[in-house]
Amino acid sequence: MSTEEKNYSKYFNKPNLEDAKSRKSDQVNIESFAPATSMSDVGANKRYHIKTYGCQMNEHDSEAIAGILEQLGYTSTEEERSADLIMLNTCAIRENAENRVFGELGRLKHLKVENPDLILAVCGCMSQEEAVVDKVLKKYQQVDLIFGTHNIHRLPEYLHEALIAKERVVEVWSGEGDIVENMPRVRANAVKGWVNIMYGCDEFCTYCIVPYTRGRERSRLPEDVIREVKELTESGYKEVTLLGQNVNAYGKDFKDQNYTFGTLLEELSQLDIARIRFTTSHPHDFDELMVATLAKRGNLMEYVHLPVQSGNDEILKKMNRRYTRESYLKLVNDLRAAIPDVAITTDIIVGFPGETEEQFQDTLSLAKEIGYDGAFTFIYSPREGTPAAKMEDNVTDAEKKDRLYRLNDLINADAQAGNMRFQGEIVEVLVEGPSKNDDAVLSGYTRHQKLVNFHGDPSLIGEIVNVKITEAKTWHLFGELVE
Ligand code: 5AD
Ligand code: SF4
Repeated sequence: MSTEEKNYSKYFNKPNLEDAKSRKSDQVNIESFAPATSMSDVGANKRYHIKTYGCQMNEHDSEAIAGILEQLGYTSTEEERSADLIMLNTCAIRENAENRVFGELGRLKHLKVENPDLILAVCGCMSQEEAVVDKVLKKYQQVDLIFGTHNIHRLPEYLHEALIAKERVVEVWSGEGDIVENMPRVRANAVKGWVNIMYGCDEFCTYCIVPYTRGRERSRLPEDVIREVKELTESGYKEVTLLGQNVNAYGKDFKDQNYTFGTLLEELSQLDIARIRFTTSHPHDFDELMVATLAKRGNLMEYVHLPVQSGNDEILKKMNRRYTRESYLKLVNDLRAAIPDVAITTDIIVGFPGETEEQFQDTLSLAKEIGYDGAFTFIYSPREGTPAAKMEDNVTDAEKKDRLYRLNDLINADAQAGNMRFQGEIVEVLVEGPSKNDDAVLSGYTRHQKLVNFHGDPSLIGEIVNVKITEAKTWHLFGELVE
């Protein structure tokens, strides 16, 4: 059958914004992943290839997708040409992320011509957008399967349907709020692992698509998080990163217990795991208990990613960030009072609709005052369906680019200064593997999330070692192993 003649299977469910926006107040259901025994041979002798775009949440979702596929008998391949299933796990955060995916879909079309049995699938945040699904259905006939962020656990059925019925499967849920435990996972890294503590986001920052693509805030039960961290420790993991769109809101949705992110950190800090990190923090919800708990150090790392987005109060208000420049500065001061050497990184958006040069100057001066260890900086990108996309935007593209360059100059200088403070110091490095550019060099991160390269024996991979820093560059440190 040619792809153009493809019909839709029994699954045809497109996302819609209104359902995605609605927030139910009922208790979240927790279900356990059911292995697809009746379909366990769907992937026999077949290979899969996953391309992941975007944030850590997507990286971690891809680990679950890989886990499910391997349970179905698939094996992974790095080569897309030899794959029977190619999956794009997509990101919707900015337009250029989406354009990359459309470009990739266009590029992959020829593989579909060479191998008509190839299943080309699209999942992740872009699948949650109605306009994207419509565009794919209309212009990208080569796509066989579209599913969303809420129904990854149903992948076996969708694949079965796509393979057996040879029809297009489109199944995206807009407003689902369940938590699925016990998903199989193929973890990308054997030393450090992601652990979801919550899903979704209820913040509705006016520029952001995530609350629509990831649904309402749902926290995993503390006992499930603790169990997973213990299991990872037992299988040799040295570090976990607790994941959530706004980890500081953890537990707010519990109806029957008062258990916050601070409580969770406190409990996890008692476990044997060598290192605990978390991302992403929202300044509005970062409370005193969290600061005080982090100050105990131990297996809690001296590093906080604290997105500020803007240094101007009017812009922060228009962004619906629910904090001011002053309260953000106070939080940073509190963190530094409790943990003087804490490393702080951030996210900043320039060119938000109507942002004036003076308002941008407030962002520059805030960044200067704080002296970040690093920052992800972005030009504002309108996202259809979000409130900011309807705001009047009179900042030219050239001006936005210029602001980004000016901001990056300052951020890079501060990043270098942030690294310089470790010059001559002995730091603990969790060794992850050979460095990207040189097999003879080992690479890993310090407690402050600084990348360190040093000469050492590969037997050290997975260990925490002491390294004396001899050279500080903008983006990494170089050092010598201390025996
Ligand atoms: N345009 C530009 N940057 C955005 N971010 C989120 N939405 C947008 C957007 N529409 C940035 C924010 C957020 C990071 C993950 O991406 O800075 O913290
Ligand atoms: Fe987006 Fe704001 Fe939620 Fe972060 S906190 S995911 S920026 S809406």
